[in-house]
Amino acid sequence: MRFDVFTLLPEVFLPYLASSILKRARERGLIQVNAHNIREYTHDKHHVTDDTPYGGGGGMVMKPEPVFEAVESVMGQNPVQTTGQPVPIILLTPQGRVFTQRVAEELSQHERIALICGRYEGVDERIREHLVTDEISIGDYVLTGGELPALILVDAVSRLIPGVLGDPTGADDDSHSMGLLEYPHYTKPAEFRGWTVPEVLQSGNHAKIDQWRREQSLLRTFNKRPDMLEKAILDEKDSKFLNGLKKEER
Ligand code: ADE
Repeated sequence: MRFDVFTLLPEVFLPYLASSILKRARERGLIQVNAHNIREYTHDKHHVTDDTPYGGGGGMVMKPEPVFEAVESVMGQNPVQTTGQPVPIILLTPQGRVFTQRVAEELSQHERIALICGRYEGVDERIREHLVTDEISIGDYVLTGGELPALILVDAVSRLIPGVLGDPTGADDDSHSMGLLEYPHYTKPAEFRGWTVPEVLQSGNHAKIDQWRREQSLLRTFNKRPDMLEKAILDEKDSKFLNGLKKEER
């Protein structure tokens, strides 16, 4: 998977990508992340990338010319993947569709993605209208720019690519992947400051362990994120367990 990130701050990407799992994924050629400096695609003496808004008001707006030129010279005109699908050109903006595990799964199916990081008050509307194919927000709050959102997207998508996590089933039990929060984890020691690891996890009985984990997942989701239960895929046993929890509440 190749990510091309268009930004005014390319230097912020490398430190994170040079650590841990993403570093290994890059070294193994599973992902490639190229950060392109939009400023390098300006032609004036001062390398200006922003200007005042038409109509007045505060703040600065990112100019269209360097953003178009950066994306078009790196990606070419109308870039397509080997599947024939166009390469998604995604603007990170608080106005976009909200990024979720489902969106990460959808994006992980692509070979290549371009990410444009907005700065200042926003980007010239013509970028949105004529260059971008998708807009993504990482949540209902406003950051100073799209760089952290782009890193978040690269991280969440990369770990879904086969081979990036050491364990091939590594992402299967994640919170959100099945529409539920994940069950609690424990490691050694079995007793720490008098707090013990649940007996069932030490029992070696895998059917019992699976059942306990499923119930803990349901319990956690019920307590912390009941909204998620409306969309979760539940079987009859799950529903029975949840009905029991609801009865207890009354
Ligand atoms: N840029 C500023 N805030 C953002 C957000 N919440 N999501 C994506 N890009 C942003």
